[in-house]
Amino acid sequence: MSFQEALRQQLQEDQDSLRTRELRVPPHDLIRFCDNDYLGLASHPALRTAAMACLQEEPSLGARAARLISGTTGLHARLEQDLATFKETEAALLFPNGYAAALGAIAGVIGTDDVVILDKLAHACLIDGARLSGAKLRVFAHNDPGHLEEILQEIRRHSPSTRILIVIESLYSMDGDFAPLAEIVGLKEKYDAWLMVDEAHSTGILGPKGKGLCLQSGLSSQVEIQMGTLSKAVGVSGGFITGRRELIQLLTNRARSFLFTTAQPALLAAAASASLKVLQSEEGEQRRLSMFSNIALFHGLVKCGNPRSPIFPIPVGDEGTALKLSKRLEETGFLVPAIRFPTVAKGHARLRVTLNSHHTPNHIIALAGLLKDAS
Ligand SMILES: Cc1ncc(COP(=O)(O)O)c(C=O)c1O
Repeated sequence: MSFQEALRQQLQEDQDSLRTRELRVPPHDLIRFCDNDYLGLASHPALRTAAMACLQEEPSLGARAARLISGTTGLHARLEQDLATFKETEAALLFPNGYAAALGAIAGVIGTDDVVILDKLAHACLIDGARLSGAKLRVFAHNDPGHLEEILQEIRRHSPSTRILIVIESLYSMDGDFAPLAEIVGLKEKYDAWLMVDEAHSTGILGPKGKGLCLQSGLSSQVEIQMGTLSKAVGVSGGFITGRRELIQLLTNRARSFLFTTAQPALLAAAASASLKVLQSEEGEQRRLSMFSNIALFHGLVKCGNPRSPIFPIPVGDEGTALKLSKRLEETGFLVPAIRFPTVAKGHARLRVTLNSHHTPNHIIALAGLLKDAS
């Protein structure tokens, strides 16, 4: 079969299973209930000013080389320091995005003799990082410490000294629920395992000054690898790992998605440092309060989801129905894409509504009304 024919066949398979997606520019005038810019910082003047000041000083847009070659600027070093301070850890390492941070961190510390145990709903980048490491993979039922313990017991029965890394998210990106962090930390201590927590969706919005769930729960020092992204509530782009100094030193030398890629542009590092300042200011607190008040309003109207999370999965099930619903909402002025396989399991298609600090009560009430009418 020719390459062209093979591609056509695969495209047809995707179409038949409703997997095909359109790459399109959504109309500008829609009210967006789908972004991860939970606090509206992506368009904040302080972030723009920081990026522009950086450009004026050093007119190069691109970083021109990898971090260990010549791509590191004072702005990268400052952001890493700012991230370590924000997360109250010893050190931090920046990656071009969260996806790269996950790949680099897991494959950087774990190898073929080890075991990675993933939550069933862990993000694709965590699964891919675990696969890349070559470790044996095990999966526990979503947010089920009982099942995690069964797996830990089984591994320890046969291999008392195998290195085990448990990988979870703090706030799950598609379901909007929190990990039972205290129980999982208890288990990792009991069975002498390590824990990696992806705080992609909780950084900026949960915990004191938006520092995340690990710090909110007082468990930060027991989490070996903390991960985050600058692309959601922080409002910029980039990923990071925080933890002990030795971890960061090791990843600086071993994380291939850090080593073999051009550094994040310095203007983004400047904007991210400015964003961390806003997040920890009175203004950041006010933005979080507005977001939580919008969440409470929507939660009261739709009566589903987690009342402390900006992510609301509106279950639909059938992929075609989810697409139709999303289209109908768009015709009424709302952007709420359908989430389908492979982002979620087959038959679990949904609308993923995300709330932020700058939605107005009128828009929230209107969307909740439309969802009710559609159900
Ligand atoms: C839970 C989770 N982790 C990691 C990432 C990757 O982050 P980034 O978009 O910065 O690559 C995402 C983004 O979709 C995510 O939802």
